[in-house]
Amino acid sequence: MQAKTLLSEAQFEIGSSPVVPFFEGGESAVLPATVLVVDGEEINRRLLKAILKTAPYTILEARKASEAMAVLQSERIDLVILDLMLPEMSGPELCRWMKVNRSTQLIPILMMTSVQGIENEIVGISSGADEFLIKPLHPAVVRTRVRAMLRNKALIDSLEEAETILFALAQAVEHRDPHTSRHCQRLAVASVMLGEAVGLPKSDLTALFRGGYLHDIGKIGIPDAVLFKQGVLNTEEWNIMRSHPLRGEAICRTMKSLWPVLPIIRNHHERWDGSGYPDGLAGEDIPLLARILQIADIYDALTTERPYKRALSSEESLGVMEEEVRRGWRDPELVSLFASTIQSQPSLDLTSLETSLENLNLELSR
Ligand SMILES: [Fe+2]
Repeated sequence: MQAKTLLSEAQFEIGSSPVVPFFEGGESAVLPATVLVVDGEEINRRLLKAILKTAPYTILEARKASEAMAVLQSERIDLVILDLMLPEMSGPELCRWMKVNRSTQLIPILMMTSVQGIENEIVGISSGADEFLIKPLHPAVVRTRVRAMLRNKALIDSLEEAETILFALAQAVEHRDPHTSRHCQRLAVASVMLGEAVGLPKSDLTALFRGGYLHDIGKIGIPDAVLFKQGVLNTEEWNIMRSHPLRGEAICRTMKSLWPVLPIIRNHHERWDGSGYPDGLAGEDIPLLARILQIADIYDALTTERPYKRALSSEESLGVMEEEVRRGWRDPELVSLFASTIQSQPSLDLTSLETSLENLNLELSR
């Protein structure tokens, strides 16, 4: 199925908001959810189950940290309620484990204890617990806290879902052209590699990784007749084609978490001498991340086969890029750094790609 059939072009007019799912639960909404209660004492687990039975929750139980970890790895959990004191591993230690683990770090944690003292609360919150309650429990307080935490979790889930949908759309755009297979993945890896060589912080590397996937998402609004036209585009077609950075920016602007990626999406077709588009920025006015992604993008286009050209070798491709530096199109220092980086790295072949992506994803999400 072509991406364009999934969403109408009208939704992606520049300046309009694409439709993204958003949680609309009201203040008093009680959501079905799965809650994991971790406590070494059966009586405490039973008490919590009794308190929460008024709501449509599925309650799972664990007596110790190892059991909790097993449940967290096999079930989709919306909230963890745990005791400060647990057998094997303490509540704060389990919290820390959850917060560094990619699959559990967004699950809210409500920590409880019967041990009095503000220092316990400090330890609990410092270890990553989102809320802290001291026993004896007041049922109405527990229910209110749990409901509020689950509401936040549902909001996080819906935002994550919206991001996932955008990334899926970006890949749908890529799949419209069978000749650009896995371009986004290679681009993500190569951009991060160059970003690391520049010495950028992790937040920028994450933006580059995401930019690898999202930079051309605006092409979803470009008709096939223009996108796949054999031969030279006329002025009108060229103008449509050149609108894809702004269309892409408009699609992703609606999600605050994607704001660091916006300069990449908007400015990845600028040229060092100011002859690019859409803003005609020159030199260091072009956002650094956009310049980095552009270099990785050009290299990938040159080294892969297209219907109208063979795949150039790494050496030939770097030669073409040097020529573009001489013409004034590319950032000379970045191209030179990219050349030395790529020559010192194993090639970005497809065999190593999966491992690189997996490692990158893990690394960037820590
Ligand atoms: Fe582009």
